[in-house]
Amino acid sequence: MSNKIKTVVFPVAGMGTRFLPATKAVPKEMLPVVDKPLIQWAVEEAAAAGCTRFVFVTSPEKDAIMSHFSDAPHYQDVLEARGKTKELALLKAGLPENAEIIKTYQDAPLGLGHAIWCAHEATGDKPFAVILPDDMVQHTTGCLAQMVAQYEKCGGNLVAVENVPANQTHRYGVLDPGAEADGLVEVKGLVEKPAPEDAPSTLAIIGRYILGPQIMDTLSTFKTGAGGEIQITDAMAELIGTVPMNGFRFDGTRFDCGNRDGFLEANLAFSIAAADADSRDALKQRLRPLLD
Ligand code: UTP
Repeated sequence: MSNKIKTVVFPVAGMGTRFLPATKAVPKEMLPVVDKPLIQWAVEEAAAAGCTRFVFVTSPEKDAIMSHFSDAPHYQDVLEARGKTKELALLKAGLPENAEIIKTYQDAPLGLGHAIWCAHEATGDKPFAVILPDDMVQHTTGCLAQMVAQYEKCGGNLVAVENVPANQTHRYGVLDPGAEADGLVEVKGLVEKPAPEDAPSTLAIIGRYILGPQIMDTLSTFKTGAGGEIQITDAMAELIGTVPMNGFRFDGTRFDCGNRDGFLEANLAFSIAAADADSRDALKQRLRPLLD
């Protein structure tokens, strides 16, 4: 079986309650960091990692996400007529030429594990990547591209991990870590959202996964876990011992754009990175007094 990761799944059917009222009519994944919605940053990261099949697990209430990746004839005609080639290229929303787009619905937000299961027909018997668009990683080589390079050596189930403050373990899937070499951490066990006193470590899974097809069978039992939701962490934990599983310490800075502080930090960091050298210094100077 080919080890190449061609398919990426974007679970984007959640409620985004932490961002209400902004997310009442606009999906969380459509909130912009600088000038692109979160979902486009995720698509670009997947394309840079070599993915060509883009599977969106969405909900009927969040069709703005699919509109973003559809043709926009009203814009196209006007921009073509005006000779605006640069703007025309931007309408592609980061999709590569050979992209295959697949949409599937999660009828109710039953949890991340359930959302991933909803992609099972599209993923079939091949390994696939998962990106949660609200986790952004800033680095010259995208987080998923780093993982794909590692996956080609180690296979199995691979998750991006980083150490989080001890008082935040209840927000994450947390590793019971085994041996570690060259940024790869063997996973001996996994706990979803443990209280700090119950956490086996502070090494937490962030929103990047490469998963083998076996995960879909495990998820198809629809077992609920923390918060009454069907958790991907629990399904991965069940497969430990059957499928090799590792945590991957990626290079880069992660921003949790699912909460207000992380979203603000991402906007600052990516704005500063996008500015040219002259305006960057001026921007930093204007920001400094706001921080005091
Ligand atoms: P979150 O855990 O951040 O949940 O989901 P949420 O619903 O988006 O936001 P809050 O907590 O209510 O503010 C992480 C990712 O998983 C997707 C979300 O759309 C987001 O991209 N997700 C979550 C689903 O697709 N379905 C679910 O049932 C849950």
